[in-house]
Amino acid sequence: MDTFVPYKEIILMYLEKARTFVNGQCAGIEPWQLIGSTFASTLVVVWLHGILFQPESLTSRSKKWFFKTLRKLPFVGAIIQKQFNKALDDVASGLHFLNDGKDYIKALPAQGMSQPVLLEKMKEYSSMGKVHWEDGKVSGTVYSGEEKLTHLLVKMTSGGTESILMACKAYRDLAYERGIKHPEILVPMSVHAAFDKAAHYFGLKIVHIPLTKTMQVDVQAMKRAISKNTAMLTCSAPQFPHGVMDPIEEVAKLALKYRIPFHVDACLGGFLIAFMEKAGFPLQRPFDFRVEGVTSISADTHKYGYAPKGSSVVLYSDKKYRHYQFFVAPDWQGGIYASPTIAGSRPGGIIAACWATLMYMGEDGYVEATKKIISTARFIESGLRKIDNIQIFGKPEVSVISIGSDVFDIYRLSNLLSTRGWNLNVLQFPSSIHLCITLLHTKPGIAEQFLEDVRDCVLEIMKDPKAKTTGMGAIYGMAQSIPDRNMVSEISHAYLDCLYSTDIPSSDKHMNGSPGHS
Ligand SMILES: Cc1ncc(COP(=O)(O)O)c(C=O)c1O
Repeated sequence: MDTFVPYKEIILMYLEKARTFVNGQCAGIEPWQLIGSTFASTLVVVWLHGILFQPESLTSRSKKWFFKTLRKLPFVGAIIQKQFNKALDDVASGLHFLNDGKDYIKALPAQGMSQPVLLEKMKEYSSMGKVHWEDGKVSGTVYSGEEKLTHLLVKMTSGGTESILMACKAYRDLAYERGIKHPEILVPMSVHAAFDKAAHYFGLKIVHIPLTKTMQVDVQAMKRAISKNTAMLTCSAPQFPHGVMDPIEEVAKLALKYRIPFHVDACLGGFLIAFMEKAGFPLQRPFDFRVEGVTSISADTHKYGYAPKGSSVVLYSDKKYRHYQFFVAPDWQGGIYASPTIAGSRPGGIIAACWATLMYMGEDGYVEATKKIISTARFIESGLRKIDNIQIFGKPEVSVISIGSDVFDIYRLSNLLSTRGWNLNVLQFPSSIHLCITLLHTKPGIAEQFLEDVRDCVLEIMKDPKAKTTGMGAIYGMAQSIPDRNMVSEISHAYLDCLYSTDIPSSDKHMNGSPGHS
């Protein structure tokens, strides 16, 4: 230990020297000057740190800035633009289907196509720019080619969630470009959890805006939440839990005023609301690009578009927004990698099946389906409103009707209905259940049966309104009351683990955090 003493003394001596030197340098400086310069230099350090340490490297950002500035120079910029346009023309001329002089279908046919016409059209389209992979001349891409397997493998990939993820990614990148380092997205409390997922995946802060009593987003609360970090505003048309349309026009005004992109999530009802006017059920207010300020809309073809599962669309009011959705890795050794969405490889079968569905249904088919669904929904809504001791949340304008009760635990109603074969969605905060009306419910007698069963079950419950809830209903009730939301997440993780497991789950394994995958 003794051998360290001289070192200690040496260090103390140097510290003393440093102190004398610094004090000497500061002699004559007033305290306010010292405090002020410390404050200013701290700000400079924080600012520099913000510039230097970002997800994208300084070199890459500097390069981008340099070339962007270069392209703005009058003479050089014009030359670069000329070369760029030439490259674009070359790319376009290489796409045979753009140059074969054919007239493509660009809108829904007024009348749905018959099967033979549709098959003929598909044959014509499938021969365009066709790559003959069957000959074994294609590198990778088709990894089996066995015919039966190919048919089998035309199965699902993506849906509404991916459309939402893409819009959030696009607006995040736009926000970065606008100099927002910590982008935030403002969403109604009722918005689909896909936005939470997007925030989680893309490092966004998500701010949930409360609802009014009518279950629409509170526009004033949204206005108050807007800050310099806001990258995106959101509304649903309609929202999943209660089937209510958010006040899109009012939020669009905020979007325009503060120059913030505005996404309308019409994943659930997009293919109904678009046809409601022609079906004789005009919506009270517009919800789409007719509303100035709406910059993107997601709509699921695999829901009321009746296409196979795994297809959805995201639409932008301007091509410039779509560019931020794309991902390009220009320096990859495997070639220039440019990808428009999350998936890398994607089966074309889903897209083709989706297109065929749209052509088969035609505008008249969608209008007819919408007429049936909305009239059934209105019939069920008015029937439910006549039943005592339950209530409907907000004004459902489309196909979802959610039910609650101030008198008994609504999960008891869902339990009882399930004993009669009904399978309703269970919602929380507040406790409620909903029925999402589809074409299946429009068949004769189904809606009447539903109302009769609800009536009977409520009468049964009212014999003892305070009785304890059991089964799934009890689990949902308990899950809502657990203050530690992490615990609910952990239970959900364990549930997902079970789905991936062939072992019988044991609580020991879950508690140890090693549920054992197979
Ligand atoms: C309003 C809304 N948005 C998004 C989604 C997500 O769609 P998907 O489950 O196809 O990913 C849903 C699904 O029900 C929805 O109702």
